[in-house]
Amino acid sequence: MRIAMGCLILAAICFGIGVAPATAADPIVIRFSHVVAEDTPKGIGAQLFKERAEARLPGQVRVDIYPEERKFNDSEVVLALLFGDVEMAAPSFAKLTTFNKALRIFDLPFVFPDMAAFRRFQESPAGRELLAGKLPSGIRGLAYWDNGMRVMTATRAVRTPADAEGLVFRIEPSLVLHTQYARVGAIPQPMPFGRLFNAVRDGIIDAQENTWSNIASKNIQRMHPFVTELDHSVLGYMVITSDAFWAGLPPEIRATLTTVLAEVSAEVADIADNYARREREEVLATEGVTAIEPTAAEMAAWRDAWCPMWDEFEADIGAATLAAAVAAAGPAGSACR
Ligand code: LMR
Repeated sequence: MRIAMGCLILAAICFGIGVAPATAADPIVIRFSHVVAEDTPKGIGAQLFKERAEARLPGQVRVDIYPEERKFNDSEVVLALLFGDVEMAAPSFAKLTTFNKALRIFDLPFVFPDMAAFRRFQESPAGRELLAGKLPSGIRGLAYWDNGMRVMTATRAVRTPADAEGLVFRIEPSLVLHTQYARVGAIPQPMPFGRLFNAVRDGIIDAQENTWSNIASKNIQRMHPFVTELDHSVLGYMVITSDAFWAGLPPEIRATLTTVLAEVSAEVADIADNYARREREEVLATEGVTAIEPTAAEMAAWRDAWCPMWDEFEADIGAATLAAAVAAAGPAGSACR
């Protein structure tokens, strides 16, 4: 895989793949591909990035956004970046964990008790290192964008790990998430986000985990009316681009885009928090929905089921990174250690 990726970036450098051709009169076109609805934190982040970039670089840059997998799903988008079919994307961490196992920290259950802890970690030296860290050669991380804490939806009440047994659980492709649901006797079913609605509607899956805004954007709660507020992990994103494209930008344009991205990333964090609050209310107010808040004893059962995963994945993540995440979680945080 590494050799294949190495060849791809070599091809990109030698043959100009990945660099949008532009004459002096043409704007540089940035095709930004993502998988969720426009009215979600990531969808709004992409729109803000477009508006700001085009306003500050008039006539020089145009950003075309392709939401809802209109171009590529998250499993395809890394290659699409390398081949120059798009210039930017923002997959969830789960989908990048095959390239950098340390990113498994973001999927591991019970590491971050809330979004504040997650952000403290991202801003820590260990978090910054992950952003600059190993991705397929030729791909570079530009920024972190937030969504929110994960909760579960299901066709029946899931209060304890025993309740999950036998349920077909849609997961994002991720070894951590696969292990998580296999450990409780569920049947993990990896699937692109674009398939989620049909899979729920057609009864292909019995349960799934996601954020409030992703659930509300697809009305999942109407078909999965049991919503368990487990808040066991965080779904966030890495905004990525290709080295060939980014390095090929005129330096002043790259600098302006970097500034815009930093501003937008801070705003996405606020938008994510507001959406989580608002969409939680909307989901729970939907007719027929049962909200399940696990009791202390039920939470302890989830921790018993999933905390052993910390030892299992510590070597992949790195002891120092895990320790930095625990430190960022603060006194209330370290549910497993
Ligand atoms: C999912 O696949 O459920 C999420 O990662 C989608 C997204 O980008 O928020």
